[in-house]
Amino acid sequence: MKVYTQNDKVKIKLKVNGEEQEVEVEPRRLLVHVLRDLGYTGVHVGCDTSNCGACTVILNGKSVKSCTLLAVEADGSEILTIEGMAKDGKLHPIQEAFWEKHGLQCGYCTPGMILQAYWFLKHNQNPTEQEIREGISGNLCRCTGYQNIVEAIKLAAEKIRQNPQEYLRLA
Ligand code: FES
Ligand code: FES
Repeated sequence: MKVYTQNDKVKIKLKVNGEEQEVEVEPRRLLVHVLRDLGYTGVHVGCDTSNCGACTVILNGKSVKSCTLLAVEADGSEILTIEGMAKDGKLHPIQEAFWEKHGLQCGYCTPGMILQAYWFLKHNQNPTEQEIREGISGNLCRCTGYQNIVEAIKLAAEKIRQNPQEYLRLA
């Protein structure tokens, strides 16, 4: 087994929004920083204690907080960030719903919130308000008071129920 020291760099591969990426990283480097350095700057950092969820991405189908994962741990994985949701300039239905229901103000929590909603709606296409609130409880927002985010996710669920193919449509 190779033992890495602090200054060693490790070559890792990631597939981000369908694009192959190869980078050299220090073993201690957090995934969130690597993604941002690669240009996916919609992935945000809102805290240093894993509470806020602004860094949420979908990794191999699961919603994860990318600030609490080392980039080397993500080696070989497929990642979806907010930049991968619209296709050919057409917004994903969840993005549309946030726009239509005014589910954002400063927009800092929004990429993470939308990706969490994406993961949540995969498992529950007909959620109650309570289920939505629990589903996004790992994602903090300073601006909206959450109500319009809940309305946006309800609307997104409706859009997806009417047209399930649209949910799957990603860049
Ligand atoms: S930056 Fe706050 S949970 Fe990741
Ligand atoms: S819209 Fe500003 S933190 Fe959520």
